[in-house]
Amino acid sequence: MTAHTSGSPSRTTGSAETPWQRMAAGGGLLDASGRLLSTVFEEMTALAQRTGAVNLGQGFPDFPAPERMVNAASEALAAGHNQYAPIKGIPSLRTAIAEHQRQFYGLDLDAESQIIVSAGATEGLAASLLSVLEPGDEVVVFEPHYDLYGAVIRFAGATAVPVPLLPPRFTPDPDDVRAAFSPRTRAVILNDPHNPTGTVASPEFLTQLVELATEFEAVIVTDEVYEHLRFTGEHTPIATLPGAFDRTLTVSSAGKTFSATGWRVGWVSGPEHLIRGVTAVKSYLSHSAAAPLQHAVAEAVGFPPEFYEHLLDDYRDRRDILVNGLREAGLNPPEPQGTFFAVADVSDHYALAGVSTAKDLGEHWAENAGVVGIPVSAFVGEANRDLYSDWLRLAFCKRADVLRKAMADLALSL
Ligand SMILES: Cc1ncc(COP(=O)(O)O)c(C=O)c1O
Repeated sequence: MTAHTSGSPSRTTGSAETPWQRMAAGGGLLDASGRLLSTVFEEMTALAQRTGAVNLGQGFPDFPAPERMVNAASEALAAGHNQYAPIKGIPSLRTAIAEHQRQFYGLDLDAESQIIVSAGATEGLAASLLSVLEPGDEVVVFEPHYDLYGAVIRFAGATAVPVPLLPPRFTPDPDDVRAAFSPRTRAVILNDPHNPTGTVASPEFLTQLVELATEFEAVIVTDEVYEHLRFTGEHTPIATLPGAFDRTLTVSSAGKTFSATGWRVGWVSGPEHLIRGVTAVKSYLSHSAAAPLQHAVAEAVGFPPEFYEHLLDDYRDRRDILVNGLREAGLNPPEPQGTFFAVADVSDHYALAGVSTAKDLGEHWAENAGVVGIPVSAFVGEANRDLYSDWLRLAFCKRADVLRKAMADLALSL
């Protein structure tokens, strides 16, 4: 393959001149000559299309969004909700989000001043970071991580300070966490439940983050798009910890929970003084998320608890098909505690395939085993990349028959 990604050795981390180059470099999409590259997701999707392999690379569901929500969108279109929505989002959606946060987490939010609807979590995260970061600031991030964080941090002229989540449990060393904070720390980004590793943050880790953020007066930007995909225990938003709310921006999205990643409806909640900044930035990004879809998402966010229970049961079944299939293939993936991703150390398969990294095995599998995964190294900057070179991420947000076929093909290839 000619294009490179954040996982590629030729990803640049040196000086990038223009704002767009900074953003691309921060996301790992610039080569040494300043050329824009495709993402590993695009590469692997193209490979899956060429080889006919099952694409467990990209994290989007291949099954329908809830019928009630889709119908609500049709009704909203027919009812003429086709003009600009308010910048902050339509009131019924903000009220539904406030009610959701109260019901699930006991968080009491003012829908008028403490919630803003965004064009997916992507815009919510970007607007959150851009609203607080200044050139020279430092941002503590945990690797591996979603590529957007690095892109926006670098675009803002700030520096990401990575802390590795140590395999095989993908927990950080508390001493590393403390050492990453400095008087220059302006923000820390948490992602819980965590993509790509499928782990959830421990109470001790959350407490340490709040303590350090308080000590260093940092903003906590928390990406909780997988809040309803937590298989063990209850999801605890970091904003609910004592002392956290006033410095925390919590980002979530309809995309994952309602199997509608293409709708691009997300939201940010937090204290008014931070939401004000997010609103200002967001006004000049999307202005507002799609009006008719906001109406439908307002209905979906208010679905009864059974919807969320059913969602989790379905995903638990999908997870088990994937994890059991990988075990039958001789791998030993940690059981994902959240998200719709599993990771596995695939080094035991190298000899058979004649390769020496998960990235190369991923390509070998696409050609020979009918399955496409993403190397975890694609989510990591240069400094810590070797820690993850044996790990592959596979998505289980796919139909059960698709997952079964992928696992059967993998078993056959051995
Ligand atoms: C951790 C994480 N954050 C944010 C996003 C983006 O969410 P959205 O599609 O709502 O923009 C994703 C999507 O894959 C994700 O995995």
